[in-house]
Amino acid sequence: MRKFIIDTDTASDDAVALVLALRQPDIDVKAITVVAGNVPLAQGLQNALYTAELCDASVPVYAGCAKPLLRELETAEAVHGEDGMGDIGLPLCGREPAPGHAADVLRQAIKSNAGDITLVTLGPLTNVALALLREPELAAKVSRCFIMGGIGTGHGNVTPTAEFNIWVDPEAAKIVYESGLPISMVGWDISWQYATFDADQADEIRRIGTPLAEFVIDIQKTLTEFSMRENALAGFDLPDPITMAAAIDPSVCRYKRYRVDVTTGEGLARGITVVDRLAVTGREPNVDVAVSADRQAFVKLLKRSVS
Ligand code: RIB
Ligand code: CA
Repeated sequence: MRKFIIDTDTASDDAVALVLALRQPDIDVKAITVVAGNVPLAQGLQNALYTAELCDASVPVYAGCAKPLLRELETAEAVHGEDGMGDIGLPLCGREPAPGHAADVLRQAIKSNAGDITLVTLGPLTNVALALLREPELAAKVSRCFIMGGIGTGHGNVTPTAEFNIWVDPEAAKIVYESGLPISMVGWDISWQYATFDADQADEIRRIGTPLAEFVIDIQKTLTEFSMRENALAGFDLPDPITMAAAIDPSVCRYKRYRVDVTTGEGLARGITVVDRLAVTGREPNVDVAVSADRQAFVKLLKRSVS
């Protein structure tokens, strides 16, 4: 069994990533830790708890940070819905998280599985940064950390050069990227190029006909409306699921190792993942950056997970 910990700001694409991990027979998800991002923490908690229950998974879900380390929380209900799950009327309330703070759970779970734990982050890096601030030596105990965040190349989704997860808490991201964690970064450019679904492609998955197949498509309602309105994309993209697929199946993404630094300024200087492709800074490379993906392998894993 491979051991995973998933840190998430559970909204409509995170939920599909959770399904992918929870439905793999050879993956033991030791904990789901929730961070504020797409939606406030309390809502993200309920969305994660609901999704785990839908997968018949007994994985503990923990509450983490309700806001970035230094900045005010910026959420994204316009993208994912007021409830983060497409506002389709799901009963996303009344479930209880496990006791304990996510940052402490991350520390404990990494230490008790030292050298044999994969960390997948799907939201702002606040919880992970807090754990590393408390215990910097954690970085050497994680086998691999797959981060959905930043941009390997191309444009951002919050500013022309910043992606949401990094932009929400750039100070946390800087701490994580400079921590020595073995990072595989799957940027929004990978989602935008390899993980978009038009109506026919979405319907092909939904027609599998299981409750999970219908769930993973129906909760993208708001994201689809947003994508069509704001990104001229007739459908939706799934950044967190293709990142989870890369963690589950190493053939999904191809990587190149670069120096990546995070900017912590204001305005256009906020939350940029500066990828030093030409090694002009002379700084030690610290991130395996996804440069391409195998869409077929991703979609095959997605279909198998909901069948
Ligand atoms: O920029 C995309 C990322 O921001 C995804 O993780 C999405 O869920 C939001 O958190
Ligand atoms: Ca997310």
